[in-house]
Amino acid sequence: MAIRNIRELGDPILNKTCKAVTEVTPRIRELIEDMLDTMYEANGVGLAAPQVGVLKRIVVVDVTGQDPYILINPKIIETSGEQTGQEGCLSVPGKCGIVTRPGHVKIEAYDVNMKPFQVEGDELLARAFCHELDHLEGHLYVEKVQGPLKDVVPEEAEEE
Ligand code: NI
Repeated sequence: MAIRNIRELGDPILNKTCKAVTEVTPRIRELIEDMLDTMYEANGVGLAAPQVGVLKRIVVVDVTGQDPYILINPKIIETSGEQTGQEGCLSVPGKCGIVTRPGHVKIEAYDVNMKPFQVEGDELLARAFCHELDHLEGHLYVEKVQGPLKDVVPEEAEEE
């Protein structure tokens, strides 16, 4: 267990495309544990490996604080609907902005045993999946924000 340093906007690693995971080594298991610890410590609802400086296609998401999704090599295979709402990112601390995302997504990914599975999400979960998967392509929500980035009002933040 360890908390890793979260890379922030302006760090070039956040704009790189991540590589697929071919094998879940002990080192990758440790990375995933650390990503969960780091996400919870920062009160985030999601974290992507490049945010801790690792260019691998791994994402953790937990919008409930109790039941994390661990997604290896995730892909969006279906989207529907639309939602427009506030979004933040642990790599852009203290800021938030309005982003439009699909209202519903279906994801295909691999688990820590490299078994494929699918998961669907609506509302905040759909938003978190889309946001985190964008990180794997080197994209941040600030590229998609409608209007200005705003300062987070404490207690209202949902950082991803
Ligand atoms: Ni983010």
